[in-house]
Amino acid sequence: MLGLYIHIPFCKKKCFYCDFLSINYDDVLTDEYISTIIKESQQYKYNSISTIYIGGGTPSVLSLKQLEKLIKHIKLNFDISNLQEFTVELNPESTTIEKLKLLYDENITRLSFGLQSINDNILQHLGRLHNFNKFQEVYNNAIRIGFDNINIDLMYGIQNQTLNDWEKTIDTVLKFNSNHISLYPLTIEQGTKFYQQNIKVDTDLQRQMYEIACNMFKINKFKHYEISNWAKEDKYSKHNKMYWQNKEYIGLGASSASYYKRYRFKNTLSISEYIKNITHGKNSIIEKEYIDDTIYNIETIMLGLRLSDGVDEKYFYNKKNILDKYINEGMLNIKNNKVSLTEEALFISNSIISDLI
Ligand SMILES: C[S@@+](CC[C@H](N)C(=O)[O-])C[C@H]1O[C@@H](n2cnc3c(N)ncnc32)[C@H](O)[C@@H]1O
Ligand code: SF4
Repeated sequence: MLGLYIHIPFCKKKCFYCDFLSINYDDVLTDEYISTIIKESQQYKYNSISTIYIGGGTPSVLSLKQLEKLIKHIKLNFDISNLQEFTVELNPESTTIEKLKLLYDENITRLSFGLQSINDNILQHLGRLHNFNKFQEVYNNAIRIGFDNINIDLMYGIQNQTLNDWEKTIDTVLKFNSNHISLYPLTIEQGTKFYQQNIKVDTDLQRQMYEIACNMFKINKFKHYEISNWAKEDKYSKHNKMYWQNKEYIGLGASSASYYKRYRFKNTLSISEYIKNITHGKNSIIEKEYIDDTIYNIETIMLGLRLSDGVDEKYFYNKKNILDKYINEGMLNIKNNKVSLTEEALFISNSIISDLI
């Protein structure tokens, strides 16, 4: 299994909380960037790929021509005869019917929409460019065109967001009948507008919101397959699950990370550097680390404990004491030789996981 991630570092406008690599969309620079991604993909030519994820940034900000060129060349440069999933991230404000039709015709199997909230005041406060009506229109267009595997991203623990708002958001989103929902607790990242404004998050409130969501999804038959992700039946994100299972993937584009042939490496965060290096036939890697067996075992625990499936007990061979302590405290379970977090432990998973690695 080998995944492919492609980073599109362009957005219409920067949201006030976001520190992902993205700058304002520019037609000429984006043309150059897409050609560079295609060139970079040739370094990995004909690898057999099982999942593809185009994320960002905002992939839907690309023009029809740019989207078409990118997808067509990626399909040509890799062996996709065993492809199981092809996801594209979309922001409501830049998703047109034409783009949805193109994605459908190109056999994109999964869409991921950044809704964040159904409350227009909250959306405005976050610096988002869409309102709830726009999301509804775009989502319904996607269904009409034929997409049947759709994720919705939501954020919680936002300033002025009440428990009532949150319950209403979940309740409304459940009515869309999507088969996947991802939740993000707002985090305040250095360099963002929220950081400059010294906005703080209330982690107690975030915990309550998380628990509300867990209960509502459970009632609605969603499987809580990862700490922040819920899916109906088998519609989990195959691409993201591969990360949590510590499988290998290739990342293309500025800032993207790869785990390939036992090396983890990361591309430069500078879009211009990235374009210059790849155009001159070089790579654009800024960090590279060989993953030996010890690191591999630690990573497998760290990533795998996020999944409800858990991690094979064998990876804990030298951690029996801590393992037993958390089992006694009701924070970890062992079933069929798999160690997993209990429901109680999910919200404080980071501290438990860091104790175990
Ligand atoms: C980086 S975005 C890319 C997808 C798309 N551009 C969007 O905004 O929906 C992926 C997800 O990360 C979330 N995210 C980004 N920064 C965050 C933060 N500081 N706290 C919580 N969620 C955040 C976004 O809201 C989004 O749902
Ligand atoms: S949250 Fe999404 S749309 Fe907003 S700036 Fe970040 S990547 Fe762009």
